[in-house]
Amino acid sequence: MAHIKAAITAVHGHLPDYILTNQELEQMVDTSDEWISTRTGIKERRILKGAGLATSDMGGEAVKGLLDKRGIGPSEVDMVLCSTVTPDMKFPAAANLISHKAGIKNAFSYDMNAACSGFLYALVTAANYVESGRYKKVVVVGADKMSSIVDYTDRQTCVLFGDAACAVMLEPTQEDVGVMDHVFGSEGSSWQYLHMKAGGSLKPPSHETIDAREHFIYQEGQTVFKLAVTKMGDISLEVMKRNNLSAEDVSWLVPHQANMRIIEATGRRMNLPPEKVMVNIQKYGNTTNATIPLCLWDYEDKLNKGDNLILTAFGGGFTWGAIWLKWAY
Ligand code: ACO
Repeated sequence: MAHIKAAITAVHGHLPDYILTNQELEQMVDTSDEWISTRTGIKERRILKGAGLATSDMGGEAVKGLLDKRGIGPSEVDMVLCSTVTPDMKFPAAANLISHKAGIKNAFSYDMNAACSGFLYALVTAANYVESGRYKKVVVVGADKMSSIVDYTDRQTCVLFGDAACAVMLEPTQEDVGVMDHVFGSEGSSWQYLHMKAGGSLKPPSHETIDAREHFIYQEGQTVFKLAVTKMGDISLEVMKRNNLSAEDVSWLVPHQANMRIIEATGRRMNLPPEKVMVNIQKYGNTTNATIPLCLWDYEDKLNKGDNLILTAFGGGFTWGAIWLKWAY
């Protein structure tokens, strides 16, 4: 019997309605459309507004749309995995709340956190469940309400992030498509360059942590930038080399959308022309766990069965990775 592979059979996203433009940010902090556009490539991002709305609301909408699109009832789903750095609350998992909001009752669900590399790690984890032969319909959601952890008085970070969710369906196949290979890496010694200072077990919330504005993203941008450029290029080349893939064999690079200059540098390292690089950072900014599936969703009508995709990301931790994925439809 042929080895079972896990194929993406549908993708669907959810974007909040509110559009935060560079022009509006100019009114909030000392920045300019020109600086943001040239340094990051971002023109606008979506923000989830409204009391009582959280990551699971966007994730629930993405999953409902995904099930409709694929014609799968909620009761058929076996498992829901959510990668997020902004769960609705510390526990229970956002995946449980997403399942509840999407009407999924017969599945088990949990969250994963690998910062901006989270969707890639969750995709491979989910693929292993499918490849085991036991699970037939596995949903992977990348979802983040980044606006809940962004300091809108800090011009260095507030221009970068946006809110969104996007989900994929993974199903078994015996064809030569799906999640083919991956290379991942993490190292914790550089955690201090990108993290949230308070709110965890190290520094629980207190009046002092709130006064010191420690419940927001803290990033040393240049350090992260340099490492992201190196690691995303290196790891993408490594997964290609392991599988004897040349630049000509690669149909699409699907890079994490953190900065246009990182995306372009990664494409150049891989010797890919810009037409083969998925980019939507100008519309959504960095949506952390949602960037990669949102690219797949935006470019879905340009993808063909058998296309070789290289998905790659770098994030807090540090974490990084690349997946070779063969598109299945
Ligand atoms: N508007 C105007 N000026 C600004 C802004 C702003 N929004 N932000 C910073 N500046 C200023 C700085 O103060 C600095 O001024 P100075 O020279 O007078 O000191 C100048 O611009 C240059 O600042 P740098 O930080 O050197 O700018 P850089 O070109 O590195 O761009 C950026 C900053 C966009 C943050 C970049 O470093 C970056 O993209 N880093 C990587 C982000 C990333 O990949 N994150 C990983 C994923 S996120 C996750 O895992 C959750």
